Amino acid sequence: MADPSALEIGGVAKSFGSLHVVEDVSLRVGKGEFVSIVGPSGGGKSTLFHIVGGLLTPDRGTVTIDGHDAVGRRGLIGYMPQQPALLPWRTVEDNIVLAREIAGEPRRASRELARRWLARAGLDGFADAYPHTLSGGMQQRASFLRALLSDHEVLLLDEPFSALDAILRTDMHRWLLDIWEENRRSILFITHNVEEALLLSSTVYVLTARPARVLERVEVPFPRPRPDELVDEPEFVRLRRRLTHLLKNDARHAI
Ligand SMILES: Nc1ncnc2c1ncn2[C@@H]1O[C@H](COP(=O)(O)OP(=O)(O)O)[C@@H](O)[C@H]1O
Ligand SMILES: [Mg+2]
Repeated sequence: MADPSALEIGGVAKSFGSLHVVEDVSLRVGKGEFVSIVGPSGGGKSTLFHIVGGLLTPDRGTVTIDGHDAVGRRGLIGYMPQQPALLPWRTVEDNIVLAREIAGEPRRASRELARRWLARAGLDGFADAYPHTLSGGMQQRASFLRALLSDHEVLLLDEPFSALDAILRTDMHRWLLDIWEENRRSILFITHNVEEALLLSSTVYVLTARPARVLERVEVPFPRPRPDELVDEPEFVRLRRRLTHLLKNDARHAI
C-alpha cells in the first residue's frame, strides 16, 4: 500500500479468564484516513481500543503506531471515551489543555490554541465554565477537543455520539468532519450504527459478536464532502443493507 500506516493492528487476541473477547483482529488506518469499526454491543470493541491505547496487553498480536511497536505503551494516541469523562473540578479550557499540560507544553500557547478551538466548536464563552453546566453535545465537543489538542496523529473515538438524539448526532457528524478536513488526523471510530460508519468513513471494518473477528472490510466509495441526501442514494442504501445484514446474520450465529 502506498501511504504509510498511522496504526496497524495484527492478529490481536484477548481473553478475560475463560471469556474470549477478541479472537483475531487485524486492521490498518492509513495516515489521515477515517476508519470505522462496527460491531454489536459487548463484542469487544472497547477492549480493542484499550489494547491500542496501551491500557491492556493483548494475549497475542501486534499494535504498531507510526511504524513503532506500541503494545502496552500509553500516551501515544488521543482518546475520546464513550462518556465525555471531563474532570468536574477543572474548567472546560483546563480540561482540553490537560494533555498538553502533562506533556509540559508552554501554558500560554496552549491556552491560545484552546481558545481558538473552543470558538471553532461553538464553545466560546464556555472556556471558564465547569463541565456540568454544558449540554451533552457540548460536553462531547469539549471531549473531542481534548483528544484533538493532545496533538497525537492517531485519534480513537469510542462510540462518541451514541447517547445523543438523532438530530444532534447529525450536527455532530458535520462538525466532526469539518474539523477533520481542516486538521487531518488518522481516526479510528467505533460505533454500532451502520449509517454513522458509512457517512463518516472511507473504510469500515465489520466485527463479529464476541469474540471479535473481522467479518468484512468495506471500502466506502462516496466522495467528500458528503451531502445529507446521501443516505437516500441507491448505492448508500445498498451498502447500509449489506452491513446490517452481515451484523444480523452474525448475531444469529452467536445465539
Ligand atoms: N476488564 C475486564 N474484565 C472482565 N471482562 C471484561 C473486562 N472488560 C471487558 N470485559 C467483557 O468483555 C466483553 C466485551 O466488552 P467491550 O469490549 O466493552 O465490548 P463493546 O465495547 O464491543 O461493547 C464484555 O462481555 C465485557 O463484560
Ligand atoms: Mg464499548
